Amino acid sequence: MHEASATVVPQGKPGGDPANWLRLNANESSYGASSEARKAVADMANTLERYPDPSSIALRTAIATHFGLPIDELICGNGSEAVVETIARCYARPGDEILFGRYSFIQYKIFAERLGATAVLAEETGFRTDIDTLLAAVTERTKIVFIANPNNPTATHVPAKELRRLRDGLRKDIVLVIDSAYAEFANAGDYSAGHELVAGTQNVIVARTFSKAYGLAALRVGWAHGPASLIRVLNRMKQIGNVNVLGQAAAIAALGAVEHLADVVAKTITTRRRTTGALTALGLDVLPSQGNFLCVRFPHGVSGSRSAFDQLMAKGIMVRKIEDYGLPEFLRISIGTDAEMDRVIAALSDYVQSTAA
Ligand SMILES: Cc1ncc(COP(=O)(O)O)c(C=O)c1O
Repeated sequence: MHEASATVVPQGKPGGDPANWLRLNANESSYGASSEARKAVADMANTLERYPDPSSIALRTAIATHFGLPIDELICGNGSEAVVETIARCYARPGDEILFGRYSFIQYKIFAERLGATAVLAEETGFRTDIDTLLAAVTERTKIVFIANPNNPTATHVPAKELRRLRDGLRKDIVLVIDSAYAEFANAGDYSAGHELVAGTQNVIVARTFSKAYGLAALRVGWAHGPASLIRVLNRMKQIGNVNVLGQAAAIAALGAVEHLADVVAKTITTRRRTTGALTALGLDVLPSQGNFLCVRFPHGVSGSRSAFDQLMAKGIMVRKIEDYGLPEFLRISIGTDAEMDRVIAALSDYVQSTAA
């Protein structure tokens, strides 16, 4: 186990013409939002003087209908980040412990630091959250357990059965947050976003977002599903106008744009497979991905990943160094369109050749 420090590593500036920059560093969608969502935003442009509905009733109703969930078990927020931070603020105090896997999403460390709580990192096996080490790391001071599934930055996933074992093995006064930000891209047969684990509990919450597959990162809309008692607490603690007017309208429209979502997901999964194959053929080590990004290990350790990063940046291709995640020999590369990934594959092919020379 390790205590964490959450300092994000500087990423620098790409070279070349900004018009040719490729932003593959934040796991955004290269396919953009649906035309329905874009129209919904445009339609709201004449009512910008109005505050948003503080309870996001229409959006929660749309989510409830779409996912078959009760509306009183839903909360919306300014990105899932804000929803998850509200959970952390409600349930952890200075001196408490917040527990997660060693290579989990960096925001969890940041939340713990902001609160004066202790981030406790459980060892992983094969860059995958290990349920046994997580459970073994629970102490009487543990208040929250975070699990991102699929996980950022490793892109690996924990099977539904393991997730259930985690839930069943935790004390009922520990809040379990299942962060399923990338759920739409997970196609493994044993994957579940985890909503079925909420029923009958007082302590399990699943967080989702419109930032990734729906392509609405700019608007900051996320949501969570949990027991009504817990959601009531969170709804009291959240800021009043916490989801803006454009975000609420766009998210409702995005839920209706089922063909756009299916298209984005299908293309991303196909391109993920192809890019994984191409990078593996170059001799790079690609972790099995269930997200819209790849976690790629470079030979020659930190100097290898740094010089690959520099070569990509010089060509205007922005990817994410993840030294701050404790993975210095890796880079995280978002899955863009086929044409975008062709540029990445070509640049990394040049890099590999330059190291062989
Ligand atoms: C695992 C994970 N959870 C949550 C988020 C935050 O998403 P949002 O844009 O909804 O705040 C991200 C963003 O990268 C993420 O990787």
